[in-house]
Amino acid sequence: MASLGVNIDHIANVRQARRTVEPDPVSYALLAELGGADGITVHLREDRRHIQDRDVELLRQTVRSRLNLEMAATAEMEAIALRIRPDMVTLVPEKREEVTTEGGLDVAGQLQSLTGLVGRLQGAGIGVSLFVDADPTQLRACQASGARWVELHTGTYAEASWADQPLELARLTEGSFLARSLGLRVNAGHGLTYQNVEPVAAIEGMEELNIGHTIVARALAVGLEQAVRQMKALVQNPRHDPLFGSPRP
Ligand code: PXP
Repeated sequence: MASLGVNIDHIANVRQARRTVEPDPVSYALLAELGGADGITVHLREDRRHIQDRDVELLRQTVRSRLNLEMAATAEMEAIALRIRPDMVTLVPEKREEVTTEGGLDVAGQLQSLTGLVGRLQGAGIGVSLFVDADPTQLRACQASGARWVELHTGTYAEASWADQPLELARLTEGSFLARSLGLRVNAGHGLTYQNVEPVAAIEGMEELNIGHTIVARALAVGLEQAVRQMKALVQNPRHDPLFGSPRP
């Protein structure tokens, strides 16, 4: 059964829209945990557009589930991770001009430098996950880097037309199978919604789904605790053949 990591970057986005103190993502992390979040994920971006250093420091002290820090593979972020010591670091590609993370990390293209970084983080007791496309070359490079986890990029699946979704789901399923046969543990995320999450949650061996935007969007209507509770129910108990069933409300 997959667990649920809740990404709270968008809470910080609302705060940064006015550069004020509310809403505070640290308080909302607690509400997400009350709703059943198995982990809290934040992305500390180089340009600090949403999550701030102070948020990560306070979350380290207050999160009672697991703190997953998404970050770029840079010297600045490495120093922050080694100081704050989240439970997990997820390494992601980062482009200054992008609206959100676009595509997976090119692990094969920077294997040597990533292997060093993975080793230093894991040596400090921090779990490391690499955010990659479900591509055999990248997955083999992940294994070579020494990382224990991969997070499969589900953005292409999420954006696919209804007709193409089964093909993209098959890619994720095969990627998950290959990763596990290489000894890697498998998470997934990006672009997942209440409507499309179940087939991904049902992939054999899927450990954790990291989901942000759709949960924060629903939280505006029903509150964060309830929005997390509703997502957790889908992640824990996905329908067997949901791609061909009727959509849930
Ligand atoms: N996983 C990774 C690596 C991400 O970069 C993001 C977005 O920050 C997510 C998961 C969550 O994506 P979404 O907000 O679309 O649910």
